[in-house]
Amino acid sequence: MLQQINLIDLTQHLPTPFLVIDLAEVQENISRIRRALPQAEVFYAVKCNADRRVLESVQQANGGFEVASFSEAEAVLQLGVPPERIICLHPIKSPDFLRFLHRHRIDVLAADSVSELDKLAEYAPGSRVVLRVNVSNEGSVFPLNRKFGVEPKEAISLFHCAASRGLVPYGITIHVGSQCERLETWRDALAVCQQVFHEAKRANIKLSLLSLGGGLPAAYAKDSLSLNKVGAVICEAIARLELPADCTLSIEPGRAVVASAGTFITTVIGLAERAEGKWAYLDAGVYHGLFEACPPGGGIPFPISVNYTERPLQIYKLGGPTCDGFDLPFEKRSLPELHIGDRLLIHFAGAYSTALSSTFNGFSVPAIHYLDDVATELSAIGETHARWRSGLR
Ligand SMILES: Cc1ncc(COP(=O)(O)O)c(C=O)c1O
Repeated sequence: MLQQINLIDLTQHLPTPFLVIDLAEVQENISRIRRALPQAEVFYAVKCNADRRVLESVQQANGGFEVASFSEAEAVLQLGVPPERIICLHPIKSPDFLRFLHRHRIDVLAADSVSELDKLAEYAPGSRVVLRVNVSNEGSVFPLNRKFGVEPKEAISLFHCAASRGLVPYGITIHVGSQCERLETWRDALAVCQQVFHEAKRANIKLSLLSLGGGLPAAYAKDSLSLNKVGAVICEAIARLELPADCTLSIEPGRAVVASAGTFITTVIGLAERAEGKWAYLDAGVYHGLFEACPPGGGIPFPISVNYTERPLQIYKLGGPTCDGFDLPFEKRSLPELHIGDRLLIHFAGAYSTALSSTFNGFSVPAIHYLDDVATELSAIGETHARWRSGLR
């Protein structure tokens, strides 16, 4: 537990709550994804963590970007990323955003309805259309298929519809749901892709992109599904699919790129003994970085560690700082006895944490710091950090 002690000690001077990002880990995660899926081009899903230095790290690792809004697109363009390295796979875009994308020559755009195709034709004429095709999201922590996606059997008629509006039928995109830990779901999704590619070929529609979306799991727990297992299933299915030589395979991970690169640090600001047990109140909660910790936010099993491992273990409900009853990131956690002022490390917190923070109740959005800035003894910290995490893989 040397690493936790070091990180807490080294950041004592920084007011909590904050996220410490290990930018080297961002790049290493991109390498891990590439090793697991050698054929796929990686486009980082910016929504997951749009921090400028995270984006720069992705850029340095030659990753592309998947954007869903003005500010995401602007942040990436400001780095000097060329439009051909930016795609927008959000199936619903406002007319203004479409005009903006068109002006900046970002033309690989998703759609999943006739109405969206009409908008594309009007505000982003000539765009390359990527249809969001519905697949099962079983086994994912955050299903996304209720809100978006055409049924596979509707895909061909929508491609015809796109062509009739002067758009280019370009490819399909899927999403198995975020943190998808069921291999069969990945397998089934690839079978759906195979079916649509087959039908497109029969209909003389040449597809140039198969986008696998997000969903790659982060290793929150020892038994989390590994990237390599997902990679093996995808590679096997892709080999069967026999994509045309000029067809690009892409993946748009968010979580798998940044989750393990972030460590969230929060302080105990209150304690209480109540009829149902012990409570500890933190200076960050559901509205300030820990949305995904609570069951309505997904119930991600973030590992938590503290400095005082010699204290007796206690069971705590860990509440956030606001007056809201929903602000209860952790219902039940066994931790060494907590005292006011203790700092907690919440590991694997780089994804959808600061990105989902607000200023609700007057508490600030948590700051972001970088491991190489806070840790002057970087190599020692980086090494122990990596060693601790590798125990979880
Ligand atoms: C279109 C699209 N692509 C990629 C992602 C990233 O997903 P994940 O963080 O699970 O990798 C999302 C997440 O919502 C998404 O909507």
